[in-house]
Amino acid sequence: MKFFKIVLLFISLQTSAQQGGMWIPSLLNGMNEQEMQALGSKLTAKDIFDVNNSSLKDAIGHFNGGCTSEVISPKGLLLTNHHCGFSQIQSHSSIENDYLKDGFWAMTLAEELPNEGLYVDFIVRIEDVTTKVLNGVNDGMTAQVRQSFVDSNINAVKKAAVVEPWHKIKIKPFFKGNQYFLFVFERFEDIRLVGAPPTSIGKFGSDTDNWVWPRHTGDFSIFRIYANKNNRPSKYSIDNVPYTPKHFLPISLDGVEEGDFTMVFGFPGRTNEYLPAVAIEQLTEKINPSNIAVREAALKVMDAYMKSNDTIRIQYASKQARIANYWKKWIGENKGLKKSKAIAKKREFEAEFTKKIIEKGLEVQYGSLLEEFESAYAEFNNINMLRSRFTEVFIRNNELMKIMFRLTQMEDAAYNQESFNKAKAYMISTLKGIHKNYNAELDRAIFNEIMPLYTDEVNDRIYDKTSFTNLDSALVVLEGSPSQVIQRINEDAAYQYAKPYIMEFYTRIEPEYQSKKSNINAIQKDYMQALMQVMPNERYFPDANGTLRVTYGQVKGYEPRDAVYYKPISYLDGVIEKYEPDDYEFDAPAKLLELYETQDYGQYADSNGKLPVCFLGTNHTTGGNSGSPAIDAHGNLVGLNFDRVWEGTMSDYYYDAEICRNIMVDLRYILFIVDKFAGATHLIEEMTLVHPKNNTVKLIEKN
Ligand code: ARG
Ligand code: GLU
Repeated sequence: MKFFKIVLLFISLQTSAQQGGMWIPSLLNGMNEQEMQALGSKLTAKDIFDVNNSSLKDAIGHFNGGCTSEVISPKGLLLTNHHCGFSQIQSHSSIENDYLKDGFWAMTLAEELPNEGLYVDFIVRIEDVTTKVLNGVNDGMTAQVRQSFVDSNINAVKKAAVVEPWHKIKIKPFFKGNQYFLFVFERFEDIRLVGAPPTSIGKFGSDTDNWVWPRHTGDFSIFRIYANKNNRPSKYSIDNVPYTPKHFLPISLDGVEEGDFTMVFGFPGRTNEYLPAVAIEQLTEKINPSNIAVREAALKVMDAYMKSNDTIRIQYASKQARIANYWKKWIGENKGLKKSKAIAKKREFEAEFTKKIIEKGLEVQYGSLLEEFESAYAEFNNINMLRSRFTEVFIRNNELMKIMFRLTQMEDAAYNQESFNKAKAYMISTLKGIHKNYNAELDRAIFNEIMPLYTDEVNDRIYDKTSFTNLDSALVVLEGSPSQVIQRINEDAAYQYAKPYIMEFYTRIEPEYQSKKSNINAIQKDYMQALMQVMPNERYFPDANGTLRVTYGQVKGYEPRDAVYYKPISYLDGVIEKYEPDDYEFDAPAKLLELYETQDYGQYADSNGKLPVCFLGTNHTTGGNSGSPAIDAHGNLVGLNFDRVWEGTMSDYYYDAEICRNIMVDLRYILFIVDKFAGATHLIEEMTLVHPKNNTVKLIEKN
């Protein structure tokens, strides 16, 4: 009895303690494989990543450089989030065919819609090239000299790599530049839109529910990869055919329950898990509050205008969503870092680190690192604040100032005709992008709210005089020779107002920021090396850098606040609870309400007859993991990652298994929408649907 208790305790410690991390998929052998299996996985490291045989990795595509997607049929059907395919869906939409509002479903291959510029990358192989990239580098070098060695070595390694003609290569630093990996990948460029639910499903809950649990969003869209006749990547052509993948994910109809293993396989963008306490202090006390304040001021104006006028509400929906997304994330991040006492815990950890350095006699090498951090961050603080203030005020939240910022870049490029033409083309596309949905009065009101956060000189009369609040007059200014254009720009009132600030940014703020930042980076590189040497038994995974990673965990609820427990699975009943007719966030399509009324869920209901919508896991994800597959213990698709919970967004700096959760759409909800809601049964027929959970065994267990 006692023995059993000890074994049980051991198992439960193992399964609860060791979570978090974004791991390199080619290096899962050993610790990761064991941890995954302890959590219930039946997969081997080779099932997940294999260079010579097909493996799960062959189904995972980097979607347009920013999101993740996965292949779900032998004919190249590709699943990602609705918010990842949003701009493609939007660009095919018009008043007559409003695919955002009504959804879109191609009922035949011929109806699938091509998307210029859209691409999906698949990893072919990953190689550790650290020795080659760091060849000739030594500890005595300055950061600049070191970097020039690294850069030229990288070029040489790329040149020497043996790849097929259709392959591409990139090399990326890991562990703050202590390791380098080479990625060989294939880029597919004929990616067509196949299906998207209406926004009232794909973005149900909109900003109110963004970053929030409980969630009821069907955040998915479907594309198809096309290849040439030889199944190789190719630009769009009518002769292209659906791609036959090396692997596609079968879909489980058995879903998940609390405690089940899941892994998320995708392309996380950026995390910073090894910062010193002083950096987290600066982030939570200075940078985040500053950025939140600017966005809050801008959002207050936007919300008021959007509430009072329907045209503006539609015009600014996407701009408002973008600004609100990170505004809300930063607030949650600060709350989470506070709740989990991240700064105090980092300080404790640093004390331990210092103790170990002394024990191991490594004071000469590493003894001054933490002090170096303290003084480097003290020197960095002001310029870091100023730079992020500038970015928020001039680039992210006020559109006239953003135009001015781009105009200075165009002026800078006016030294010859060719570079001017390029800059001008970019300028025109920026202007068109902004003016497609622009209201000068609103922009001016934002200017008046946020500019005082940067300067005392707030002159909004520039809005009456400038040519750039209107697309036609702006384009007229851009006509003529480079010198004519530059002269006219310099006569513009808004340009005259903004230019001194922007020049100050380029000549003073940015250089000082970059030099202090590279000083910090150099310390951070040494600190990373020191950590791995001094405390070799900690869990080290490289920060996210847009490369393919595996994270794993369990389906699990959490306690956001005292006395509140959040269950990990939401149901269609919750959509009905939140439903508000005609509300722009919580409206729902009539057809969905009807299916709920008749409980017509087909094979997609769970064993209690309810239709699951979303679920939570302890997988460690970040931006870029949108659209990543959640995979069950057997390698089947069970969920589609699209968000994190508010209290846990601090996992970009500090992962706490108590409150960090990723949010996924249940695949059964997606299939239900495709099948029962949209009637796109031909897509279901393409897929492989499986029942991996052995029901008879479960019955015996229950008895
Ligand atoms: N928070 C998610 C992510 O960072 C979803 C964003 C899109 N949805 C929205 N309501 N803005 O990107
Ligand atoms: N929605 C995010 C994305 O677009 C994923 C959420 C997160 O940051 O975890 O990548």
